[in-house]
Amino acid sequence: MSQVKFREVLAKLPAYVAGKGDGHKTVKLSSNELPFLTAPQIIQAGQYALKDANRYPSATGAGLVEKLASRYQLPNNQVVVGSGSIQVLANALTAVAQSGKNVVYGWRSFEAYPILVGITGASSRQIPLTAQGRHDLDAMKAAVDGDTAAVILCSPNNPTGTSLTEKEVRDFLAEIPPSVLVVLDEAYFEFDTLKGHVDGARLLAEFSNLLVLRTFSKAYGLAGLRCGYGLASQEIAEAILKVSTPFALSAVAEACAVAALADEQKMRCQVQEIIQERERVVSRMREAGWNIQDSGGNFIWFPGKVGEKILAAALAQGIQTRGFPEGVRVTIGLRQENDQFLAAISQVEPG
Ligand SMILES: Cc1ncc(COP(=O)(O)O)c(C=O)c1O
Repeated sequence: MSQVKFREVLAKLPAYVAGKGDGHKTVKLSSNELPFLTAPQIIQAGQYALKDANRYPSATGAGLVEKLASRYQLPNNQVVVGSGSIQVLANALTAVAQSGKNVVYGWRSFEAYPILVGITGASSRQIPLTAQGRHDLDAMKAAVDGDTAAVILCSPNNPTGTSLTEKEVRDFLAEIPPSVLVVLDEAYFEFDTLKGHVDGARLLAEFSNLLVLRTFSKAYGLAGLRCGYGLASQEIAEAILKVSTPFALSAVAEACAVAALADEQKMRCQVQEIIQERERVVSRMREAGWNIQDSGGNFIWFPGKVGEKILAAALAQGIQTRGFPEGVRVTIGLRQENDQFLAAISQVEPG
């Protein structure tokens, strides 16, 4: 047995529970992925990059950084890329948090947050969501103190699907000390149709402590490639790069992300299809007597005990959903998959 002494924080870290399911054998509505197959031009770009697999990629994903900077009309030094937005978040937290510090975020939210915060040695301040599954911004503000290294906002929030408005986020940022990093995780931004929802990229010029996270894993359908990015002030971007593992983004992931970005029209069409499906499923369920909230993500949320019944009824028909102690989250898939889900839960008493 190994005698290696590991850092004490490791003993306390919760394990990441990935959504279950083999997308080929079962209907996988458990990981908020896009259900569409990868577009031929993205596959081609990846194959082309593979030819040079003997060479290291750019240490910082410079080709993708440049494309993103031009898309957001930002200088290159305000954009950082990583192998998934999770990695950009991990780096950002490493840059600001350590033992003795705390990180404030709403809960329940993305389950990677407690793990990433725990790794830094800082403590998590989890602020319960409101009864409507929204961030309690007043309580989050009140939880910030002299030891707060960062606050994480998630909009739309995984798993509840609620969004923050631009006004809410602007007012919040105005009251947080500028020395505290505020991360706005917008992994599901492209699916958000909720009224007045925030667009973090528009707030960057006003707040130099803001880091906006976006990803190619959701709307662009490239979860398996691992590619995400952050937009922030030059100082935050520089700090993230300092703690980043060099060559974190593979050449294949970078080439595919560049190809995906070059065809935004395709991304928008696919996102639109998911949004329409989301609205169809929500309407069908409301007609059947379910009381479900609007969602800004590519998923819907069933809070409370009824979640267990939904999870079990779906599973009995080979459909994987994602259960939490507070409810169940169901990803919007292809029309046929959503119909299978609706049929599977038709016997469950609406909650
Ligand atoms: C809120 C949120 N942020 C980030 C991620 C992860 O994104 P990535 O695949 O870019 O690491 C997820 C994935 O489920 C998520 O739900």
